Amino acid sequence: MKIFGFALWFLFFAVSIQDDCFYENAQSLLCRKFLPTGTFPNVERLNVTQVKLEKLNFHYFQEAFPNLKSLTLIGGNVTQLKQIIMPQGPALEITVLHLSGLQITSFCDNFTNYFPNLKLLNVSGNYLSEFPKFSFENLTAVYLSENKWNCSKSLEWSLDLNKTVFKDLESLRCFKMPHSNKPILAIAKFRKITRETCTPNCTCQLIKCVTDMDSGVLEPIIEVDCSFRGFTEMPSTIPPKTKILRLEGNFIDDLSPLKTNFNYRGLLDLFLDNNIISNVNILEGSYWLTHFRYFSIRGNQISELPAYAIDNALQHNSNMPNAVRLILGENPWRCDCLFAPRFKTFLQKYASQVIDIKDIRCAKDSEHPLTPIIDLSRSSVCHSPSEYTIQEALDLLNGILAFLIVFVLSKLAYDYYYFKKTGRLPWIVTKLP
Ligand SMILES: *[C@@H]1O[C@H](CO)[C@@H](O)[C@H](O)[C@H]1NC(C)=O
Ligand SMILES: *[C@@H]1O[C@H](CO)[C@@H](O)[C@H](O)[C@H]1NC(C)=O
Ligand SMILES: *[C@@H]1O[C@H](CO)[C@@H](O)[C@H](O)[C@H]1NC(C)=O
Ligand SMILES: *[C@@H]1O[C@H](CO)[C@@H](O)[C@H](O)[C@H]1NC(C)=O
Ligand SMILES: *[C@@H]1O[C@H](CO)[C@@H](O)[C@H](O)[C@H]1NC(C)=O
Ligand SMILES: *[C@@H]1O[C@H](CO)[C@@H](O)[C@H](O)[C@H]1NC(C)=O
Ligand SMILES: *[C@@H]1O[C@H](CO)[C@@H](O)[C@H](O)[C@H]1NC(C)=O
Ligand SMILES: *[C@@H]1O[C@H](CO)[C@@H](O)[C@H](O)[C@H]1NC(C)=O
Repeated sequence: MKIFGFALWFLFFAVSIQDDCFYENAQSLLCRKFLPTGTFPNVERLNVTQVKLEKLNFHYFQEAFPNLKSLTLIGGNVTQLKQIIMPQGPALEITVLHLSGLQITSFCDNFTNYFPNLKLLNVSGNYLSEFPKFSFENLTAVYLSENKWNCSKSLEWSLDLNKTVFKDLESLRCFKMPHSNKPILAIAKFRKITRETCTPNCTCQLIKCVTDMDSGVLEPIIEVDCSFRGFTEMPSTIPPKTKILRLEGNFIDDLSPLKTNFNYRGLLDLFLDNNIISNVNILEGSYWLTHFRYFSIRGNQISELPAYAIDNALQHNSNMPNAVRLILGENPWRCDCLFAPRFKTFLQKYASQVIDIKDIRCAKDSEHPLTPIIDLSRSSVCHSPSEYTIQEALDLLNGILAFLIVFVLSKLAYDYYYFKKTGRLPWIVTKLP
């Protein structure tokens, strides 16, 4: 009875083994879902697909597959490995190790030391977020793609790897933000260039990368922050392809580098708030005005700007109308008849680009201190020429009439006195008919 039961169990086991595993040849065993039980001294190659594992125990392979050279474990889409138990005693002779789809998040720091013969390591399709710390010294082929690389961490490591060993280096991509799904190698290169070419005393950052719609080339978006660093002029060098430059709170008065310095060609957003710029006339006809996206010159000493020239440039700016922003507030704007009405027309036309329109006010010491230009009426700043002469003429006429009245009254008084004294009528009366 006991023997029968054992035989039945054995039969069931054999069938189940046959169901899940088969020999590709004497050295090669292929399985599905489960690791086989028993010992397989002849097997050099084991391949398990859709394996369901929580614990990867290399003691098991040491005992069950003493001559294993190649191990492939590929998880199903729900396989989640929680633990890896490293081998003990005599080293495993494995030369090919392929662990994919197992949701592995990390390996121990001396992982490869346990496999002195290892040549090929494929750990693609796992959840690695950081570059493994173990040694790749003796490996000839490594595959790392389709992991969850966290690109908020340093990616320096990718620059030093040998592409003939790390075969899929070019296809490693960032997982989620920052740089979601962008190639790690390109990001690492952009970061390195940004760091090495950064303007002295400023901080430079690769904000993101965008794929150019026309060329398909990956373009870095670099932000250089030189705010509140005591700059007295615009820096002469910025990293190539800088798109955003922050120069707030410095002592800059001259915008000419924007026109003459070729480094500024790719610049899109420029923040120059709270400097000492007194005019922007130099920008007339510049490349900048027809290509910028964001130009902030709040809190400077600007009293007027070439409204016609800027109007004309904005009409040729390819970022118009949705991406262009002009910030002009808190400057001592001139509010006379010559400038203010033109400026107001300009502001009305570009009301959706000039985002701080209510802060664009007349200078404190002007005729209309701190009145928003947009609320200024033409008649309050302009006295029309015709109005002026009529007023003057009336004033003159009044003066003459007043003089005549005084003259006539004095003449009357004199004639009366003369008549009383001499009895003679005034000369004019003698002439009257
Ligand atoms: C393992 O088996 C799968 C399915 O049969 C096959 O696609 C894969 O190439 C095999 N891998 C190795 C290393 O033999
Ligand atoms: C896992 O794979 C099976 C078939 O291979 C599919 O039906 C199922 O939706 C997958 N589950 C998830 C969570 O992707
Ligand atoms: C590495 O593993 C991935 C994921 O399983 C697979 O697509 C790829 O073919 C493997 N590459 C090699 C060379 O084994
Ligand atoms: C790996 O490191 C652990 C401690 O971190 C140590 O106990 C073990 O002996 C090391 N294994 C090898 C093969 O170097
Ligand atoms: C690489 O191979 C050399 C010589 O075989 C060996 O001494 C060294 O320990 C190996 N390194 C690793 C990390 O396995
Ligand atoms: C990436 O790492 C940072 C810490 O360095 C962490 O705050 C962030 O949550 C990680 N991102 C992902 C997607 O795991
Ligand atoms: C990359 O590795 C290959 C093969 O291991 C070697 O021949 C080559 O010199 C290495 N290249 C560099 C730049 O280290
Ligand atoms: C950078 O800052 C230091 C001290 O803050 C200053 O001495 C130096 O001149 C600055 N360099 C530049 C290029 O502005």
